[in-house]
Amino acid sequence: MKELQANEKSIKTSSTNASINYTDFGKSEVPVIFIHGFPFDKSSWEPQITFLKTKHRVIAYDIRGFGKSTTNDIGESINLFADDLIGFMDSLKIGKAIICGLSMGGYIALNVISRFPERFEAIILCDTQCIADSTEAKEKRKQTIAQINGGGLDLFTDTFLKNIFCRNTLENKKEIVDKIRKIILSTSTKVITGTLRALALREESCSKLEEIKVPALIICGKEDIITPPAQAEFLNSKIKNSVIHIIDKAGHMSNLEQPDVFNKHLNNFLKEVTK
Ligand code: MLT
Repeated sequence: MKELQANEKSIKTSSTNASINYTDFGKSEVPVIFIHGFPFDKSSWEPQITFLKTKHRVIAYDIRGFGKSTTNDIGESINLFADDLIGFMDSLKIGKAIICGLSMGGYIALNVISRFPERFEAIILCDTQCIADSTEAKEKRKQTIAQINGGGLDLFTDTFLKNIFCRNTLENKKEIVDKIRKIILSTSTKVITGTLRALALREESCSKLEEIKVPALIICGKEDIITPPAQAEFLNSKIKNSVIHIIDKAGHMSNLEQPDVFNKHLNNFLKEVTK
């Protein structure tokens, strides 16, 4: 963690008004850019960065408002987060990248690849889906926003942690649960409620999956109840050049819950697409 923090830098996105904090390790022709889920930050990719940094250039960044990325603007949206990613790549003079997004990071990855396909050489979709929120899901987000506005983040965080981790993690890997708890509690309530609104308003990307021509790796925890394996299988059935791995003893945070298995799949895929 200390090594990651020592490497942190910030850069202004070229086209959108955000200051993006990121880490940038290693060397390779095409970098891998990691996009975290909601409401986490770039440190949730630590096991992957540590594992890959001697083999590839690996960049992890905080989405605006999360971690150490800042903005004066209001009005979060998945489109805006995707525009930030392109602005961030432009500022770093990265023409092409491989993107790896978990959950909301996957929503951003699917958004950006459909709008800027020429900027990506491969895509890695972890514990994510292409559907928009149902009416019930939208209503639930509204209730969560009201609960946070009324009583702060504590109850939200406790319930959220129980939903994103599988039982094995909750019982036997408490350090991971605590790490994510700390990240959530250090995020501003304004950013959390604004992003819940953005998630509720996001558009589906299922109708664009067949347009994805680059290689895709799809990973999902077997016990993910937020974006279940059936969603990952749907992505796999529509993205022509895709492979899928469902990971045992993992919920919605498969990269943290089973890092060794996750890294093995990631490494094999990257070897294949960068050879
Ligand atoms: C995430 O992990 O990014 C969120 O749980 C996604 C969502 O709520 O749709």
